[in-house]
Amino acid sequence: MNLPQTQEHKVTVAAKTTLAAGVVELELASEDGNDLPQWEPGAHVDLILPSGAVRQYSLCGDPSQLSSYKVSVLLDEKGRGGSREVHEAVDAGAILTIKGPRNHFPLGDHQSYLFIAGGIGITPMLAMARKVSAAGLKWRLIYGGRSLETMAYLPEIAELVGGDVELVPADTKGIPDIKGAIETSDGAHVYTCGPEPMLRVVEENTKAILGDEFFHFERFGADPNAVAADTDGDTAFEVELATTGKTLTVAANQKLIDVVRSVVPGVPFSCEQGYCGSCETGVLAGIPLHRDQLLTEEERACNDTMMICVGRSKTPKLTLDI
Ligand code: FES
Repeated sequence: MNLPQTQEHKVTVAAKTTLAAGVVELELASEDGNDLPQWEPGAHVDLILPSGAVRQYSLCGDPSQLSSYKVSVLLDEKGRGGSREVHEAVDAGAILTIKGPRNHFPLGDHQSYLFIAGGIGITPMLAMARKVSAAGLKWRLIYGGRSLETMAYLPEIAELVGGDVELVPADTKGIPDIKGAIETSDGAHVYTCGPEPMLRVVEENTKAILGDEFFHFERFGADPNAVAADTDGDTAFEVELATTGKTLTVAANQKLIDVVRSVVPGVPFSCEQGYCGSCETGVLAGIPLHRDQLLTEEERACNDTMMICVGRSKTPKLTLDI
């Protein structure tokens, strides 16, 4: 897991393109003409919309072209309004702010890869497939969607070489045979992004057939099956903000992020539910109480970073790299 890059960058919407039904792609060009930060497949940026809403979108362009980034946004009719704002109120020429990139979904080094994408979940998968394809490694992509008309990046996928691509539009082909694909994957590592029901099927089958370490995923939102943290036993603790030198008390009924923001208002955050990674913060001393849905068990055990929107402290004092 990369530590967060909280640096902000002004970008211009250089192009807004409809890729498929309900999907627009924004090309975000560096406003000052300098290159944007480097990124690896699986990375995303926080996009700060004109309304102030912050949303995360996977980078899906070419990592060697740093004069601009590309993100794609599916209109979510039942969402919180961010995608509608992108679709209806952000046009070419608009100036936006991005933060990042950050990568909570890094592509590991493996012999072979099975990518399973559902809908707009194709965006990180496309960047990964491009990299693996260019490296001449073995890969397979299974891409499901409601219909071909709703499935973005079909021409780009058709240009990839060396892999096996299976398009599964539900209106003509039903649902992908995920279990069968994993059973015949020959030990490939499985990377997946898409709707929750699909993620569940991929997770269950990958872990049962190949083992936990073969499962790599990115979720769009909070895990609906996550068990809510038991906060009854929460107690007060101190937090030292290393760069300001200030030490504050987090009361038993206060959120750590709220206390931090009272001194450092610009601390980034978005979901406040522990799944987006916007508030990831370095821990310099003390042992965090992790309550997020992002860090792996190994990352938690390192205790060098935490999501301060939901996390607290196991020790009387926590020192944060803020
Ligand atoms: S704000 Fe999303 S993880 Fe903390």
